[in-house]
Amino acid sequence: MTYDFNKIIDRENTSCIKWDYLNAFFGKNNLNAMWVADMDFKVPPEILKPIEERAAHGVFGYTAKSDEFYSAVISWFKRRYDWNIEKDWIVTSPGVVPALNLTMQEFTETGDNIIIQPPVYFPFKNSVELNERKLLDNALILRNGHYEIDWLDLEKKAESAEMFVLCSPHNPVSRVWTTEELEHLGDICQRHNLLIFSDEIHADIVFKPYRHTPTAKVSSNLASRTIAAYATSKTFNLAGLQLSVNIVPDDEIRKKFKLTIERLHLCMSNIFGILGTQAAYNHGEQWLDELIPYLRQNYLTVRNYLRENVPEITVIKPEGTFLLWLDCRKLGLNDEELAAFFVQKANLALTNGIMFGPGGSGFMRMNIGCPKQNIIKGLESIKKAMADDSPILTDSGPANTPDDC
Ligand SMILES: Cc1ncc(COP(=O)(O)O)c(C=O)c1O
Repeated sequence: MTYDFNKIIDRENTSCIKWDYLNAFFGKNNLNAMWVADMDFKVPPEILKPIEERAAHGVFGYTAKSDEFYSAVISWFKRRYDWNIEKDWIVTSPGVVPALNLTMQEFTETGDNIIIQPPVYFPFKNSVELNERKLLDNALILRNGHYEIDWLDLEKKAESAEMFVLCSPHNPVSRVWTTEELEHLGDICQRHNLLIFSDEIHADIVFKPYRHTPTAKVSSNLASRTIAAYATSKTFNLAGLQLSVNIVPDDEIRKKFKLTIERLHLCMSNIFGILGTQAAYNHGEQWLDELIPYLRQNYLTVRNYLRENVPEITVIKPEGTFLLWLDCRKLGLNDEELAAFFVQKANLALTNGIMFGPGGSGFMRMNIGCPKQNIIKGLESIKKAMADDSPILTDSGPANTPDDC
């Protein structure tokens, strides 16, 4: 191991939402923060150094994305996904959620139906509602501990929809969709002429033997109807730098998508977003290749500990991401009690499953992108909470999650 993922980094007093805003969102300080989807690891020197050098330069004028930036992106997709993308297909935006909202605004009308697959990353629902579109839930089916797409329901809903929002890999259920599933999805979307926004922000963190397949790489049909959103933000813990890399192979769709970006003058990017993305794609591979098994080990630690000590809580086997989906239904608590149980009794800040929509009730999302020591501390506190039979107070303060996490 070249990199030390066990090192505890104190993030307090950095204005980070995860550790510094606990009281605002959970009504309590000093919780063990395993909620917001960023990691507690420091970025590797290969990414930090160019950022530090640029910061030391001290002049931060308007900055273009050089050929080197585009080469870094193209090379990453070739190396990691064997996908030959063209420079023209790359359109940056200040994040994936902004790209989703812009897509909705440009390609659909007020009142149009948009399909999402709950339980899913809650800003999808928020985006549909904030843009005054109508939400069509194609809820995933949980069968024998494994989430599947409800194809019959999708076929029906696609008849009246304009757009489909895919989460690939899926947050929070951690599915990595197979080529066959993506093909099937493509067939349905083709028959009903749906645009696909494919949020692939978690693509780089996938556990063997699973493999991420870029939606737009699967077929010419999917390439012709997909806006795919990628970023280094989850992969390399650069979310604060706010840059996403959208890949849009279709000329017509790209022209429209670019226009909406240009209209708001979002084509310029933050210097550090550009530098961080470029350095990560060029030099971050070894760090990532060590991070993935570390995260898998964290998952196994959680699974084994809970099996042995808290069998009422089970972990849905993750195929990717640093987010675990905990099935807490056997605790027999309603969603308010469940949230309060973790905050009050376990001193743990997790994300409430119910926030992810239908299918989220009775579940909690745990972020394992942190040193193992912190995972163990969290697990021990759950075990201790289970032994505490004092009543759970459900009116102890806010138990919210910010929209963008
Ligand atoms: C599936 C998914 N999409 C998008 C985001 C956020 O993307 P951004 O910060 O680029 O808007 C997250 C963050 O948790 C996420 O899990």
